[in-house]
Amino acid sequence: MIILDIKNLTLEIESNGVLIKALDKVSLTVKENEIRALVGETGSGKSLIVRAISGALPPQWIVTADRLTWRGENLLTMKQAQRQAIMRRDIAVIFQDPMAALDPSSRLQEQLLESVPEEFVEGRYWWERNRSKMKIAKQILARVGIENVAQCINKYPHELSLDICQKFMIALALISQPTLLIADDPTRGMETNIKKQILALFTHLNKTRDLSILFVGHDLLAISAMAHSMTVLYCGQTVESGKMKALRKRPLHPYTKALLDSAPSFSPDLQPKSRLVALDGTIPTLQHLPIGCRLGPRCPRAAKECVQAPTERSINEHKYRCHYPLHLQVV
Ligand SMILES: Nc1ncnc2c1ncn2[C@@H]1O[C@H](COP(=O)(O)OP(=O)(O)OP(=O)(O)O)[C@@H](O)[C@H]1O
Ligand code: SF4
Ligand SMILES: [Mg+2]
Repeated sequence: MIILDIKNLTLEIESNGVLIKALDKVSLTVKENEIRALVGETGSGKSLIVRAISGALPPQWIVTADRLTWRGENLLTMKQAQRQAIMRRDIAVIFQDPMAALDPSSRLQEQLLESVPEEFVEGRYWWERNRSKMKIAKQILARVGIENVAQCINKYPHELSLDICQKFMIALALISQPTLLIADDPTRGMETNIKKQILALFTHLNKTRDLSILFVGHDLLAISAMAHSMTVLYCGQTVESGKMKALRKRPLHPYTKALLDSAPSFSPDLQPKSRLVALDGTIPTLQHLPIGCRLGPRCPRAAKECVQAPTERSINEHKYRCHYPLHLQVV
């Protein structure tokens, strides 16, 4: 069953008096117990999607969608309080850059204890409830793989390494026992072993706690070992999505193929404006978007028709937007 359903999400940002479509007809779903990967080069709009789902966008930005629903309920039109309750209880988000997301003036213990939902706390008197909260906090830190919990819990974020902060962010996100975890590039900048640990933790949580995960990242082959399905984004547009195995074996979109071709497992993250090995050029800025298919200037298969934006087509669950898909006879 689909729990998060996004259809034709568009986000318009004003730049020098002109409205620019930073996201253009983005579609994406997450099912119960599914791990979906959301991938794309840096600047393709992954974090904007995460922020659009969580409602964390400046009020002057214009968000429209045919559907942006959580369990069938429209996130865009519901009351703010209802949306916040869903974000507190059902959907947990780990935003990019854990250091920036943590309160620098507060010890981990205080940040974690504040986040323990009251309904999970046992005891009648304040000292019993404090003890219960501390027990829950320590359990969750141990579950995400933080060693020396007793020491770490008394530290401020700046006293800890990036990977401990990231694990702590995961603990904070999981403490409300959400149905869906959205993790925006949670392994960026980490060493291979730590990356592997974090990916293994997500797989474990998915299997043992039925946690659905929308996993945003660059490490395509590493992600592909973990995720059941994948959505590929290019320059604010979803270009292909489907089951992971199908996309790996037989990508239909030239961009997906280029991403796969240029992604040795656990390769270093792509730097901003860096080139995909398999394609000439770099992703355009929002101020210089090409007409029609946004991949056009870089695409080895581009032809005249590509100045018209391709519409979404699908073969069962495999969806793509391309006039000249790979492996398919175009009639
Ligand atoms: N506050 C903002 N104001 C204007 N443009 C923005 C803003 N935030 C992001 N953008 C632009 O939106 C586009 C998508 O940015 P986004 O951060 O979503 O990319 P991303 O796919 O998450 O990249 P990365 O992999 O580096 O995290 C980029 O062109 C970026 O410059
Ligand atoms: S529509 Fe054209 S330019 Fe776009 S990916 Fe397909 S072939 Fe390339
Ligand atoms: Mg991002």
